[in-house]
Amino acid sequence: MNIVTKINDWQTLRKNLTGRSIGFVPTMGHLHAGHLSLCERSRAENEVTVVSIFVNPTQFNQASDFQLYPRTIEQDTSLLASHGVDYLFLPDAESMYADHYQIQVTETELSRELEGEFRPGHFNGMLTVVLKLLNLVQATRAYFGEKDYQQLLLVKKMVAALFLPVDIIPCETMRAEDGLALSSRNSRLTPEQRQKAAHFPRLLQSGQCAEDITKQLELLGFKVDYIADRWQRRLGAVWVDDVRLIDNVILSP
Ligand code: PAJ
Repeated sequence: MNIVTKINDWQTLRKNLTGRSIGFVPTMGHLHAGHLSLCERSRAENEVTVVSIFVNPTQFNQASDFQLYPRTIEQDTSLLASHGVDYLFLPDAESMYADHYQIQVTETELSRELEGEFRPGHFNGMLTVVLKLLNLVQATRAYFGEKDYQQLLLVKKMVAALFLPVDIIPCETMRAEDGLALSSRNSRLTPEQRQKAAHFPRLLQSGQCAEDITKQLELLGFKVDYIADRWQRRLGAVWVDDVRLIDNVILSP
């Protein structure tokens, strides 16, 4: 696996990939089986697979969440190498934001609700970095998890609005045995918190109404940001003490 840290170096390497299909998996690292499922899909569908790891400062609306975000680059590198990834792109924040984040991508509707309401600025930062990464990688296909459903919809919307020449491929949410959606933030949970967290996907899938689910989660000690039905899905965001979890499931008709 080729590890590239400089944007210029990547741009030079990219020229030699002209004519080959490229699959791209953008991540913030601390990789788990969810990320790896995106890499496997990319490998199956493209000649070359590129993964980026960049803990994007502009999409964190709390400084503590950015600081505490798990960084395990050595472990991530060996996981990606053993999964047949061709290029690992690790840009630094100064180069990604040479403009000091004075140029931003804003979506004015979808980005204001649900996650956008509780994490002001989050989607601006996410869309901006994804546009930068898509422009750098110039992939044929880019892979995004349904776990971050609103993110997936916003990326698709940006790609359509800006005529970006890339196919966005949605990938199913990977879960632990007890149903909890895999997430880099799960490793911040203590064993007791981790056990309690499994009630969240269980209740989301329970078929009860959103209000009843909210009440039960609150009784179990979760702080609930929202449980909402949109896009034929039930989406939710909750806090287990200081760790925020999001998830969504398909609503049965
Ligand atoms: P990150 O949270 O690292 O996730 C990277 C990709 O993996 C996203 O597309 C996410 O939806 C997907 N993913 C995460 N957990 C998953 C799971 N359990 N099953 C399937 N896919 C899963 O999302 C981001 O990073 C950032 O916002 C990013 C797009 C990289 C921009 O900074």
